[in-house]
Amino acid sequence: MQLINRENDFAIEVMSLSDVDDVHILECKLFKPPWSKKMFSDELALNNRRYFVAKSKDPNSFDQVLGYGGAALMVDEAHIVNIGVASDKQRLGIATGIVAALLISATESHFTSATLEVRVSNEAAINLYTKFGFAPVGVRPNYYPDNRENALIMWISDLGKSEFKEGLLKLLIEQHLDVAGLQEQ
Ligand SMILES: CC(C)(COP(=O)(O)OP(=O)(O)OC[C@H]1O[C@@H](n2cnc3c(N)ncnc32)[C@H](O)[C@@H]1OP(=O)(O)O)[C@@H](O)C(=O)NCCC(=O)NCCS
Repeated sequence: MQLINRENDFAIEVMSLSDVDDVHILECKLFKPPWSKKMFSDELALNNRRYFVAKSKDPNSFDQVLGYGGAALMVDEAHIVNIGVASDKQRLGIATGIVAALLISATESHFTSATLEVRVSNEAAINLYTKFGFAPVGVRPNYYPDNRENALIMWISDLGKSEFKEGLLKLLIEQHLDVAGLQEQ
């Protein structure tokens, strides 16, 4: 599956091992402490993980990695584990494309709920997730080891319902994201 944004010249594609070096460079700029390259490679080797990268389709920077994100498909929920977008490429709809790809992938695997943790101070990410229908359901106190910040737990429980699919389609159209290679439901 691929999501293409022709307005802003990027595509969301399945992450492969050859993307790990570039993803890790972004990870080191965006997160403290960053995941290691091995952590990403190990994740890609697991059957129940879904990882996507955003790549530039501008001829001047063709295939440059602009963002990435992943989810673990656990027993009955898709757990989004990380999302990051290069700081000079933010606010172009890239994270929206990545979260959409993760949720489409989860629904293709018949998962009906999704969850994540986000720093309570991370207004940008909370706004992003809220646009998809994630709602706050609780707090994990002192969750982040660097500053003992609380994590907000967010949840969607209706991935399988037509209302969710219609809302997602509307968001994709608003963000000029075309889906290629979507499985028949
Ligand atoms: C959070 C992050 C992934 C958003 O990426 P992005 O590609 O800029 O997001 P999008 O362009 O798809 O924006 C989608 C929505 O998110 C919200 N949003 C994104 N950046 C925002 C900001 N700086 N302030 C407020 N809301 C913001 C908005 O609701 C936005 O919709 P709008 O542009 O129509 O208003 C990016 O800021 C990032 O990489 N931050 C550092 C790493 C991080 O915090 N990751 C999340 C960990 S849980």
